[in-house]
Amino acid sequence: MTVGSSWIVPLVLLAAPLAVETVKREDFKTCDQIAFCKQHRAISVRHGSQNHHKWSLQEPTGYELLADSIAHSGAVWSANLQNSQNTLKLKVIGLADSTVRVQIDEPETAIRKRYVPNPSFVAVPEELAFESVENGAQEAKIVGGNKKVKVVVSYKPFIVNIFNELDELVAQVNRDGKLKVEEFRTKEEGKEYPDGFWEERFKGFTDHKQHGSSSVGVDISFVNFKTAYGLPEHADAFALRNTVGNTDPYRLYNLDVFEYELNNPMALYVSIPYILAHRANRSVGALWFNAAETWVDTQSSVTSKGLFGKMFDKVVGAGDNVPHFDAHFMSESGLVDIFFFVGPTVKDVQRQNAKLTGTTPLPPLFSIGYHQCRWNYNDEQDVAAVNKGFDDHDMPMDVIWLDIEHTDGKKYFTWDKHKFPTPNDMVHKVAENGRKMVTIVDPHIKKDDGYYVYKDAKDKGLFVKRTDGSNFEGHCWPGASEYLDFWHPDTRSYWKDQFSFDRYVGSSSNLHIWNDMNEPSVFSGPEITMDKESIHYGGIEHREVHNMYGMMYTSATFDGLMARTGGKERPFILSRAGFIGTQRTAAIWTGDNTADWGHLEIAAPMTLSLSIAGVPFVGADVGGFFGNPDEQLLSRWYQTGAFQPFFRAHAHIDTRRREPWLFSEQTQGIIREALRTRYALLPYWYTLFQQHTETGVPPMRPLFYEFENDDSLLEEQKQWMVGNGILARPVVEKDTFNVQVKLPRGEHKNERWYEWVSGAEARGESIYVDAPITFTPVYQRGGTIIPTWQRIRRSATLMRDDPLTLFVALNSEGNSKGEIYMDDGQTHDYQSGKFVKASFTYKKESSTTAVLEGEHVGGNFAAKNWVERVVVRGVESSPKKVEITRVSDPVQPLEFSYDRDSKVLVIRKPEALITSSFKIHVEF
Ligand code: NOJ
Repeated sequence: MTVGSSWIVPLVLLAAPLAVETVKREDFKTCDQIAFCKQHRAISVRHGSQNHHKWSLQEPTGYELLADSIAHSGAVWSANLQNSQNTLKLKVIGLADSTVRVQIDEPETAIRKRYVPNPSFVAVPEELAFESVENGAQEAKIVGGNKKVKVVVSYKPFIVNIFNELDELVAQVNRDGKLKVEEFRTKEEGKEYPDGFWEERFKGFTDHKQHGSSSVGVDISFVNFKTAYGLPEHADAFALRNTVGNTDPYRLYNLDVFEYELNNPMALYVSIPYILAHRANRSVGALWFNAAETWVDTQSSVTSKGLFGKMFDKVVGAGDNVPHFDAHFMSESGLVDIFFFVGPTVKDVQRQNAKLTGTTPLPPLFSIGYHQCRWNYNDEQDVAAVNKGFDDHDMPMDVIWLDIEHTDGKKYFTWDKHKFPTPNDMVHKVAENGRKMVTIVDPHIKKDDGYYVYKDAKDKGLFVKRTDGSNFEGHCWPGASEYLDFWHPDTRSYWKDQFSFDRYVGSSSNLHIWNDMNEPSVFSGPEITMDKESIHYGGIEHREVHNMYGMMYTSATFDGLMARTGGKERPFILSRAGFIGTQRTAAIWTGDNTADWGHLEIAAPMTLSLSIAGVPFVGADVGGFFGNPDEQLLSRWYQTGAFQPFFRAHAHIDTRRREPWLFSEQTQGIIREALRTRYALLPYWYTLFQQHTETGVPPMRPLFYEFENDDSLLEEQKQWMVGNGILARPVVEKDTFNVQVKLPRGEHKNERWYEWVSGAEARGESIYVDAPITFTPVYQRGGTIIPTWQRIRRSATLMRDDPLTLFVALNSEGNSKGEIYMDDGQTHDYQSGKFVKASFTYKKESSTTAVLEGEHVGGNFAAKNWVERVVVRGVESSPKKVEITRVSDPVQPLEFSYDRDSKVLVIRKPEALITSSFKIHVEF
């Protein structure tokens, strides 16, 4: 057995100098080395000049729809498609909330059922009967329920045209005629098959395809859109590039890529086959519901209306030349199964996707604080010292992590008895300051009959199998390992039980879980992963489900963490691999990045891309995993991480220790400041995560989410919004102490912006800002009210009941509004009403008066937080008096101060609880 990965045993790594190299490209396949990718990609070569031949409707695979096969009932419209070789079954299914599903499968006579990744759904998709169906001679017009979506199916050539509720053509399927489906076969002796049909070789590995090649592919065009996003995870720009004629297509195949390279479409740990296309005020999303290896060619083009046929007459406002963003999806198996979310706005699209695939449940409060990780904290003394170090240096921190070395020989759920003899006490001590710990639990199980998990799983038959029925075996951290099969219901219930406090000795509700290596990573396997011919429960081939292995794993872990407290406490799980639906059970980080400036810069596009694809709790290793960051890089990384959702420092075992106090006074000061800024904003982050559970909108957002009309922001990836109120543009460039910041002017060209720290108004649409090493360019948007905690303590949990300072930033009318959500921060009691939601509005009432009103708008949690200070930004003159009225109390004067230079008014001690209503009157 060969060790296919550069992940050799840590001892070797310890001895080796830490040279930061680049990825070993030869370990991973290119499109050309994969039969299905090569064949699908070759269907029509469209790169080169934008001449009209390429858009002729002579579709290469030549499918047409057989009008006499059309059937329709309720929300399902179906018909047969045919070309010279085979027949396929098309279904158009109407769903609730402006969503339509287009599914193309083999006919019922197929020798085998194709896999549909149903576990990715949050619930069975809610069908919505069509409003009307007209089956004409050449096309069928299908109008969705409530007229929120319309589908026009052209028969010959076969094209599906998707319209939004404004009757605008937004997407087309198979316009370029690339539909191709290889049917499952039984091998016939003497018959000739295309190259790679029954087996393929790569680097000494042979992949036998039991049922022959079963690939699917089709083109999807987003009409009247130039720019699109998504297809995470790639270490690449946020806006999708033109791959056609330039690079390999984007590859979606969950892989453990050692020292990944930047700015290329190679696969990484997560695969979410989702594209969001956006232009001013319009969005559309398409989810390719397929868990097999997938490649996607993308290209942005412009074509003159006449060449597209009559459908393009429907494209309004584009002139004669219509832009379109084209994506050619190619998967090794599964179905052509596409969900279109037709918006029409970007937040509508996000909600529509969330309705189908779910949101991230409200995270426990500690988990949005700062996490301290390294491979490895060596022993209990080390953990105690790190814990104390944060206190001694006055730095807040919420979680200490233990990587693989904490176990007894990489047997998860066990402890190294010498280094961690009293894990319960250790966790308990860390928890005294409200902090938590996380241990790593990987899916490879050490092949050792003395290890109870291995023995149990072997006896119960819970491992993934080879085609001969024996257990699949591969190498990973523990050496020879077997891999649990999370499609097997018994594996899922067995795994769930392993997290009970009595089974997982040393665990407690203060210990949470990190699921790593779950692509799955197999050092001895092809491309460092599991052989595709391996078999899961029910005869599923691994090739059919590869991309969802990690998601199935974390969801089983989630069930375990739920069960261990009887559903009372909220679990926290971090996962490296992910797929559609991962967001419901885990946070994701971007894996093994490197301590260099490029990796710092790419963290934003990578986390933005995951965010818009439905996975909001995301971050990158602060400091960079490989290599040793210098102080400037580390400082800038903390400043950046503080404004990204999952905020964790982590480092490779072979790097120098880098707890913050090991650096100069200045760097410590910068890190302290970054941490304190994060902790101050926790009430805001927490409220954003709660809002996400209702709307699907991620806390970290591209600028165009908030400024939908502004096409100049489409490529922006160095700045982003945290909620609707904060714009962050951390410095990610070496030796850079001035940066350009775009402050969008908004639809009415009257947005106002305030520099976060000084509160002074920043004027101008594009400003050049001084950003010395101690400074992070961050701005508050006029019209918003942001709740903060200003008494920074050791951990988030200790701050939960703290008083609030409200930052009120006035818009051009002198108004603003905001919200806060609070609960106990750790249990599910909020689901039965134990939460509080309060709204804040600041209104200019007349030329001489304004009022800030706090209103309790929901929930019955007895929150202790009260407003201790209000900072109003953009106030033109000093008030004469400020007074407060609380529910039944008499009017009381309040102290205040006004700074003429920054135009900031500070109102002191209103002492108003967020659970009751109050009004602060300001008189000028
Ligand atoms: C790979 C992970 O990406 C990394 O974060 C971790 O430290 C190592 N595995 C060891 O567990």
